[in-house]
Amino acid sequence: MSQDDRQALRHAIETDFGGQEVDAVVDDASHRYVETKTTFETIFPFLRRGGAYIIEDWEWGHAIQWPQDQWIDRPLMSPLLSELMLVCGHQSGVIARFEIDPAFAVVWRGDAPLPKDGSFKLSDHYIARGFSVPL
Ligand SMILES: C[S@@+](CC[C@H](N)C(=O)[O-])C[C@H]1O[C@@H](n2cnc3c(N)ncnc32)[C@H](O)[C@@H]1O
Repeated sequence: MSQDDRQALRHAIETDFGGQEVDAVVDDASHRYVETKTTFETIFPFLRRGGAYIIEDWEWGHAIQWPQDQWIDRPLMSPLLSELMLVCGHQSGVIARFEIDPAFAVVWRGDAPLPKDGSFKLSDHYIARGFSVPL
């Protein structure tokens, strides 16, 4: 399936694990911003409290060895990591801890109950201001 197919993802995770919450998820698929965010918002609620969600290779395009002209038309992944950091800082129990390795990020599930019906949105779980203020 494509990782941005919310319905197929939900069906797979609901049936493949017999209704159990999962311990860990590794997203090592497209490394594209929109698809990766879609997968995260769909799957993260199925993680057990204390479980780990790993986003691989978030750093492409930022790394010193990355060819300057490769995937030049694709949005970078770092805005997703920034959003996850804001959710962690919100301290509402959605994300308990957030770790950034140079090649992957680990998002630890907090205790807050999350909807599994596809309505979970990162933007509902942080407060941001000042982005439009000129520096
Ligand atoms: C870096 S490889 C990793 C494969 C596997 N995780 C491994 O370690 O062998 C990325 C994989 O993601 C797949 N992929 C790319 N875009 C995808 C998408 N939108 N949905 C699902 N998989 C995708 C590619 O076909 C490829 O198999």
